[in-house]
Amino acid sequence: MNWGNRLMLNLNDFSLNEKGHLLIGGCDSVELAKHYGTPAYVYDENIIRRSCRAFTSSMREHYDGKGMVLYASKAFACKGIYRLVKEEGMGIDVVSGGELYTALSADFPAEKIYFHGNNKTAKELEMALKENVGRIVLDNFEELKRLDKIAISAKKRAKVLLRIKPGVDAGLHEFVKTGQIDSKFGFALETGEAMQAAQVAMKSKMLDLVGLHCHIGSQIFDVAPFEYTAKIMLGLMADIKEETGRELNELNLGGGFGIPYLSTDPKHPFENYMAAVSKVLKSETARLGLKMPYVLIEPGRAIVGTAGLTLYTVGSVKNIPGVRTYVAVDGGMGDNPRYSLYGAHYEVICANKADRPRDLVATIAGRYCESGDLIQENTRIQKVQEGDILAVLSTGAYNYSMASNYNRVGRPPVIFANQGQHTLVVKRESYDDLIKNDI
Ligand SMILES: Cc1ncc(COP(=O)(O)O)c(C=O)c1O
Repeated sequence: MNWGNRLMLNLNDFSLNEKGHLLIGGCDSVELAKHYGTPAYVYDENIIRRSCRAFTSSMREHYDGKGMVLYASKAFACKGIYRLVKEEGMGIDVVSGGELYTALSADFPAEKIYFHGNNKTAKELEMALKENVGRIVLDNFEELKRLDKIAISAKKRAKVLLRIKPGVDAGLHEFVKTGQIDSKFGFALETGEAMQAAQVAMKSKMLDLVGLHCHIGSQIFDVAPFEYTAKIMLGLMADIKEETGRELNELNLGGGFGIPYLSTDPKHPFENYMAAVSKVLKSETARLGLKMPYVLIEPGRAIVGTAGLTLYTVGSVKNIPGVRTYVAVDGGMGDNPRYSLYGAHYEVICANKADRPRDLVATIAGRYCESGDLIQENTRIQKVQEGDILAVLSTGAYNYSMASNYNRVGRPPVIFANQGQHTLVVKRESYDDLIKNDI
């Protein structure tokens, strides 16, 4: 039975087995819950690989291979995913010394690592330089000077990109907009800051300015803002060439490709994106007399989002007549802070009753001491009781990576499932893990 057809969810190709249990990666999710305990993050490895391949083959098709797909590892970082992405021939973007350290400890090739972040510390910049990361993406003048000084004292040149705010409003939730002028990320284009940054970087003997970067936001379904951004960025490249006489040869257009969280969300449009944006790049470079730059994109959520789900056990069902029904689970904002942060939506299914109709409207509450600790409000699920297993779908991005130890609850394990086999890639945190740094 195909789950997608059954409930008309376009989320993923989850299916059910003869017991009516939800399958992921060919494994019975209820058995996985028994085996690993709950909460637990489970990924369908094959879906991650398929997404990687769709992006890399599209890069080959539209840019003749003159570009690279970087997995934005803030979406989900652990050694297991870095190893997988390496096998798929992609690069990565990291935003902290911790992500960099994790990637290097998974033997990720340093030259394919792009180091982002709006306030990289001197220590992180030193580490990036020492480890020979491919590019450091500079966010502000202080950082530019900081890296210059570090490079001088290390006697080592650094290849850098500048993060630009192209001023594009992709019409998203305030918290995930990063391309406008009112953003903490990058050099503003409109104010002349971006041009000035290019001039300052070019004067440095130790910084090798190779290109520009931008990222206009997240969960964008429309291709138009990306096309517009590509045009603006090439315009800036042309202005820089005119002003300084130097042509930059790398353009990193960031990530932000929308994924379906709900059955009503549109389908992933990145194939259209690649075709449309590459067309803009080709025509605009020709118009502006520029060479086609080496192109990079940084999908995060689009690689791992729909591949993952979180399994929980129901602890109680509290019906408040005329108000709502709370279904309390053994996780919550500690493993998935996205609803409490910005009202993110998810589909929820009872994994052991997945073949039954979803005729209960309930609020899924967590186990943390905050009234705002909710995973979803007024969502449709099957009628559930204590001991049932809930699956929250599409939690592959920004869940594990945003998890905390609030209330001193250990973070859940991560499991990769593939063709009926399952592998533990991150262990559940133990009580000992929780006190290991306490003196
Ligand atoms: C610089 C940069 N690149 C890529 C991404 C990935 O975005 P998404 O996961 O929405 O594709 C982000 C997300 O915040 C980002 O800041």
